[in-house]
Amino acid sequence: MIRLIKPYISFAEVQDDFKNIFDSGYFTKGSYVDQFRNSIAEYVGARHAFLTTSATTALTMALKLLDVGSGDEVIVSDFSFPATVNVIEDAGATPVFADVSLNTFNMLPEELERKLSAKTKAVMFVDALGNPSGIHRIKEICTENNLPLIEDAACAIGSSEFNVKCGNIADITCFSFHPRKLLTTGEGGALTVNDDSFGQTLNIKLNHGASFHDGKAEFVDYGYNYRLPDLQCVMGIKQIEKLNSIILSRNEIRNQYIESLNPMGFVEQKLHNNVESNVQSLVFTVPEGVNRDALIIQLSKKGVESTLGTYCLSNTTYYRKKYNSVQSNASYLEQQTITLPCHDDLDIDYIVESIEQIVNG
Ligand SMILES: Cc1ncc(COP(=O)(O)O)c(C=O)c1O
Repeated sequence: MIRLIKPYISFAEVQDDFKNIFDSGYFTKGSYVDQFRNSIAEYVGARHAFLTTSATTALTMALKLLDVGSGDEVIVSDFSFPATVNVIEDAGATPVFADVSLNTFNMLPEELERKLSAKTKAVMFVDALGNPSGIHRIKEICTENNLPLIEDAACAIGSSEFNVKCGNIADITCFSFHPRKLLTTGEGGALTVNDDSFGQTLNIKLNHGASFHDGKAEFVDYGYNYRLPDLQCVMGIKQIEKLNSIILSRNEIRNQYIESLNPMGFVEQKLHNNVESNVQSLVFTVPEGVNRDALIIQLSKKGVESTLGTYCLSNTTYYRKKYNSVQSNASYLEQQTITLPCHDDLDIDYIVESIEQIVNG
């Protein structure tokens, strides 16, 4: 099977550092944690980075930081993985779904403006499949309305708009290091912030509520343990060192696919001119008349893994039942988009030929 993604990390790269950790006996809160944290902050250009067990726990912390809870509304991009909205629901707040562009798959500014209310407490913008197109415009609207912007950049480590990296644009940015992401630690996540008071609060909250003076803990708040262990941080450090070259190669693969698939009517997820995408997931809108689900099944019979683009959140069973849903760009994209394999070990010609054979019957 040609896999959707292959991890950019081998055992050979980590074994010496793994041995150091086993020899030292420090499996958590060791030097690799600080090294990975610092390398994320430096890479994205943020003042503070914090590691977590996943993007889901990072997003959970983002909402806690903003004190989002019952009676509050959070405006959220409607085309994403359900974790994006689950954390809002879990906080006791009401998600307000904002429709997305058919081109970039990202929150439409006019939708955000339409959905603002006196109850809006925060805005959660998703870099759909790694693409941050339009986030600066969304940020402008948030600033005009005095609202904090959370960026769900689960898919977007290394992406940028106007030469500013995701992680240094929104008030709070959350990343995922799940194995479907191009930088993986098995499971894992991170939050980045520039505001020092956010940084101070996260330091305490992510340490069980403890503030440290002369090495002594004082529990000044209640808190959490969402720590990422040192072994996993080694994996992260090795990949962040080569992230730029990984992204270059993924963009080349994207261009090759575009050249072959555009003539067949497949249209790639669009990027604004000033955007560099990490091409986390390579997603195309399939032509009208092509049954996307049948295409996925037929590709799998030819040994090519593929999947839907991502989900229309308001159309998933739980949220549809609770909040109702309407026909939208997001629901169209959920039906009409396909994710194709993207990594260095690919026979793109074989994949394109397979698609051609299936589509032309
Ligand atoms: C946009 C988005 N947000 C959040 C998540 C959740 O990430 P994690 O599995 O690290 O919790 C994902 C996972 O795929 C995602 O794609």
